[in-house]
Amino acid sequence: MESKNILITGGMGYIGSHTALVLLSQGFDIVIFDNLSNSSIDVKDKLEKISSKKVTFIKGNVLDTTILQNTINDFNIDTVFHFAGLKAVSESVENPNIYFENNISGSINLLKVMKSSDVKKIIFSSSATVYGEPLYLPYDEDHPTNATNPYGRSKLYIEEMLKDVCNSDKDFSAICLRYFNPVGAHESSLIGENPEDIPNNLMPFITQVACKKLTKLKIFGNDYNTPDGTGVRDYIHVMDLVEGHVKAMRYIESNKGWQAINLGTGKGISVLDMVKSFEKVNSVRIPYQFVPRRKGDIDKFYSNVKTSKNLLNWKAKRGVEEMCKSSWDFQKGLN
Ligand code: WQD
Repeated sequence: MESKNILITGGMGYIGSHTALVLLSQGFDIVIFDNLSNSSIDVKDKLEKISSKKVTFIKGNVLDTTILQNTINDFNIDTVFHFAGLKAVSESVENPNIYFENNISGSINLLKVMKSSDVKKIIFSSSATVYGEPLYLPYDEDHPTNATNPYGRSKLYIEEMLKDVCNSDKDFSAICLRYFNPVGAHESSLIGENPEDIPNNLMPFITQVACKKLTKLKIFGNDYNTPDGTGVRDYIHVMDLVEGHVKAMRYIESNKGWQAINLGTGKGISVLDMVKSFEKVNSVRIPYQFVPRRKGDIDKFYSNVKTSKNLLNWKAKRGVEEMCKSSWDFQKGLN
C-alpha cells in the first residue's frame, strides 16, 4: 500500500512546528504547507536538525486552491492537521475581514479540496475563546459557545462547518481541539513561540522583558475578581498540547464524526504568579507595571479536562516551571 502522508497546514508556526516535530520523531510522513506569513523558513532547517529527518515543505496559501489541490494529490494525503490561520484577538477586532478571509475562507477552501480528493480526517486547531464569558467554570465541552471577538468567532464558525460536513458524510472525522493558553518550547530550544511582529500573548512579552528587548511588562488590570487581582488562565506546555494532537489522530483512526475536545491542564495561574514563577525558575527580574484592563479580557478561565482524559487517554503532565524554563531557554537562543 502506498505510504500515507499527513498534511500540516501552518506547520511552520508555533503549534504546527511542534506538532510536525513530534510526528516526525514518531516516524510519520508529513508535508508542511505554510505561507510563512507569521513564521520563517529557518524553522524547516531546525526541524530537520532536531529530527534528523528530511522535511517536505510546500510554500503556499490555503486560499490558493490549485497549489493546495496539487499538494493533497501529489503526496497522497490521508489526514490533515489544520493550523493555518491568524490568531491575534486584538488584530481581529481592528481588522475582522482578514480573519474571515484567512481563517474561514481558507478553511472552506481546504474542505473543498479535501472533498474532491476524498480526504476524510481532520484535526482542527480551535480555541477556548469559542466559549466567551464563562457561565460556569471550569469550561467543559458542553459549555455554550459564544465567542466575543472576530478571531474566536472565526474558530467557532469553522467548528460548525466541520459539524455540518460530518453530518453530511458519515465517514468523515473532525476533531476540534480547543486550546487554552499554549506556552513553552521544545527541549532543544531551537523552536518556540517567535512572533514575527509584536507579541500578542503573555509569555513572549515576559521573555522579551527578560532579555531586555522591552523594559517592563505591562500587566493589563489588577482589579479582576481573582486572588491577586490579575487575570487567571489555564497555561499548557506546548509539548503537552501537541502530544494531545497525536492522541487525537489515533482517536480518529477508529472514530468517525465530530468531536470538540479541550486541551488544558485544568489549573488556573494568575499573571502575577506566572511572573513570579518565571523570575524564580530563571533567576531573572521581570519589572512590571499595572495598566488598565485590555479590552475583551475576562477575569479567569480554565479547562475541564475530563473529555480529553476519557476519549484520548491524555492529560497534561508538564508544570509551570518547565513552561517558564523552556520559554526562556528558547528566547535566549534567539538573541
Ligand atoms: C493572558 C493573560 C492578559 C499580555 C489569547 C487568545 C486565545 C489563545 C491564547 C490563540 C491575560 C495578561 C497578557 C501582556 C498581560 N490564542 N497579559 N500583559 O488573552 O488569555 O488568550 O491567547 O489561540 O485564543 O484569546 O492570552 O496571553 O494574551 O493573556 O497582563 O502583555 O495575560 O490580560 O490575563 P489570552 P494572553
